[in-house]
Amino acid sequence: MPVTKEEVIEFIANMSVLELSEFIKELEEKFGVTAAAPVAAVAAVGGAASLVGMKQAWDPLPSVLAAGFTTIDLVKAELKPGEPKTFKWRGKPIFVLRKTADMESSNRDIVANGERYTLVIGLCTHLGCIPAWKKTMWKCACHGGEFNANGQQTFGPPPKPFVVPPFKVEGTVLTLGETGPESKAMIDARA
Ligand code: FES
Repeated sequence: MPVTKEEVIEFIANMSVLELSEFIKELEEKFGVTAAAPVAAVAAVGGAASLVGMKQAWDPLPSVLAAGFTTIDLVKAELKPGEPKTFKWRGKPIFVLRKTADMESSNRDIVANGERYTLVIGLCTHLGCIPAWKKTMWKCACHGGEFNANGQQTFGPPPKPFVVPPFKVEGTVLTLGETGPESKAMIDARA
């Protein structure tokens, strides 16, 4: 049964770059560049090398896949002061709190759009439960740990503050998984 162009494209799209290179090499060795049906598609786009190049351009870079970026638009998220929302990054809960005017400042504050935000991974630093926001603080139901609006531990067994994920601020957009200058400054301050 003849192979259609769409089937060839789908087949190629599901291969890694390495698999594709091997596949093309094998076809060239066995049939020559224009002999096999799948190779017709290769020839149509200008040969094996250009197809590999296209495949590389279609696929996200390995670093992008590994980092698992998440973006949060702080305006579109419609965060009300004092009422955090939970997002997800790399399967972890991420708490974002737009601070009220009377919440104390911290060197962990992220300033964007004229507002101050707390951004943390929402896992208790004791044994990893997910604390819940209770009016002015996060409380962990597992063993009673508490964290203030800055994400600092204030009571119970948690040994350290919530972890701040790597982030980058561009206008009102936070990108999690990238280390921007503000994120680097926080990391350096902890070092
Ligand atoms: S896991 Fe949160 S206090 Fe123990």
